[in-house]
Amino acid sequence: PQLIVVNRAGDETPVDAREGASVMEAIRDNGFDELLAMCGGCCSCATCHVFVDEAWLAATGAPGEDENDLLDSSDHRSAHSRLSCQIVMSSALDGLRIVIAPED
Ligand code: FES
Repeated sequence: PQLIVVNRAGDETPVDAREGASVMEAIRDNGFDELLAMCGGCCSCATCHVFVDEAWLAATGAPGEDENDLLDSSDHRSAHSRLSCQIVMSSALDGLRIVIAPED
C-alpha cells in the first residue's frame, strides 16, 4: 500500500509501505529523519507523532489507552493525533495521508 507523507517543511511524498509494517517503519525506512521513533515502536516515547488526514480518521481508528496517554503529553496534540508506530499498514489504508507532527 502507498502512504503519503507530509514532512515538517510541508513537502508531500508518496512512499511504498509494506503491508503489516507500521506507518512509523514505512516513514523511517523511506529516509525521513524527522521522526525520531526513539523507542523503536513499542509505544513508550511519543516521538513518532503524526496527524492523520480527516478522510482517514475512521479507517485508522482511535488511539489505544497507552497511546492516548502519551499523546496527551504532546504540546501538539490534536483530534488527528496518532503515534505512527501504532498504525499498521494494510491494503485498506492504501493512500493514507499523514503529516509529521512538529517536534515537542
Ligand atoms: Fe516510540 Fe512510537 S516509536 S511511541
